[in-house]
Amino acid sequence: MSNVIELKNIAKAFGPKQVLKNASLKIERGTTQVILGGSGTGKSVLLRCVLGLVPVDAGSIWVNGKDVTTLSEAARTEQMKLFGMLFQSGALFDSMTVWENVAFVLLQRRMNAREAKKIALEKLAMVGLRAEVAELNPAELSGGMRKRVALARAICHNPEIIFYDEPTTGLDPITADVINELIIKLQKELKCTSVVITHDMHSAFRVADRMAFLYQGAFIAEGGVKDFKNSENPYVRQFVEGRADGPIKVMV
Ligand SMILES: Nc1ncnc2c1ncn2[C@@H]1O[C@H](COP(=O)(O)OP(=O)(O)OP(=O)(O)O)[C@@H](O)[C@H]1O
Ligand SMILES: [Mg+2]
Repeated sequence: MSNVIELKNIAKAFGPKQVLKNASLKIERGTTQVILGGSGTGKSVLLRCVLGLVPVDAGSIWVNGKDVTTLSEAARTEQMKLFGMLFQSGALFDSMTVWENVAFVLLQRRMNAREAKKIALEKLAMVGLRAEVAELNPAELSGGMRKRVALARAICHNPEIIFYDEPTTGLDPITADVINELIIKLQKELKCTSVVITHDMHSAFRVADRMAFLYQGAFIAEGGVKDFKNSENPYVRQFVEGRADGPIKVMV
C-alpha cells in the first residue's frame, strides 16, 4: 500500500520554543491514522505544516509524492483541494446559514448557489442532519450538531484526505461516540485517508487503523491499536492509561 503522506524529520520553532524537533511519520492511503500527544505538543502545528499554512524550518512533507514544503503558491492552492479539514474550534461562520457554511469552499470557487446548496444538503444528510437544519444559523445549534455541520463542510468537496483536529473534544460521551461512528462511516463511504488528532483515548482506539504518539517534538511510538493497548513504552502507557505519575511531567 502506498503512503499518501510522509513526514521526514520535520522541525518547527516559534522563537525560542522548539515545538517539532525531528518528526517523521508515514501515513498509508485509505487508512485512519490517529495522532496522539499531550496538550501543546504540536499536533495542530504539525497539521498546519502539512496544509502548508505554516512553513517548516527543516525536513520535508510528501503528499501524493510531492514535497509540499517546496510548492509554489499556485501549486499549494491546488494541493489544498486534496484536503478536508475539521478544525479544532469548529470555526463556523455565525453570519451564514448552515448550508452556506457547508458549501463555503464551493461558493468561493464560484459554483452556482443552487448546485452548491444541493451538494451541501447531500453532505448534511451524510452526517445525519435533516434538510431543515440547512437554513438555520450555527448559533441555533447544539455543540454536537455544530460538529456535524463542520464535518459536512470538511467533506463538501470530496477530499482525498480528511484531517480531524480534536473531533470529540467538548462533547458528551454519547455524542462523542456518534462523531466516532461518523468518522468510521465517512472513511468507508468516501474511501479517503483520515488523520485524527486527539487525546480522547476511547475515540482513538475506536477509529484508528494506525496510531502514532508525539512527544517532545518527535513521534516516539507508532503502531496498530493492539500495539498501543499492549505497549510497554512507559510514555505510551502513561498516556493511554491517563496517569499523572510516570515519565511525562505536566506543569500546571
Ligand atoms: N503561531 C504561533 N506562534 C507562536 N507559538 C505557537 C503558534 N502556534 C502554536 N504555537 C505554540 O506551539 C505549541 C504547540 O501548539 P499546538 O497548538 O500545536 O498544540 P497541540 O498539540 O495541538 O495542543 P492541544 O492538544 O492543546 O490542541 C504551543 O506551545 C503553542 O503555544
Ligand atoms: Mg491542537
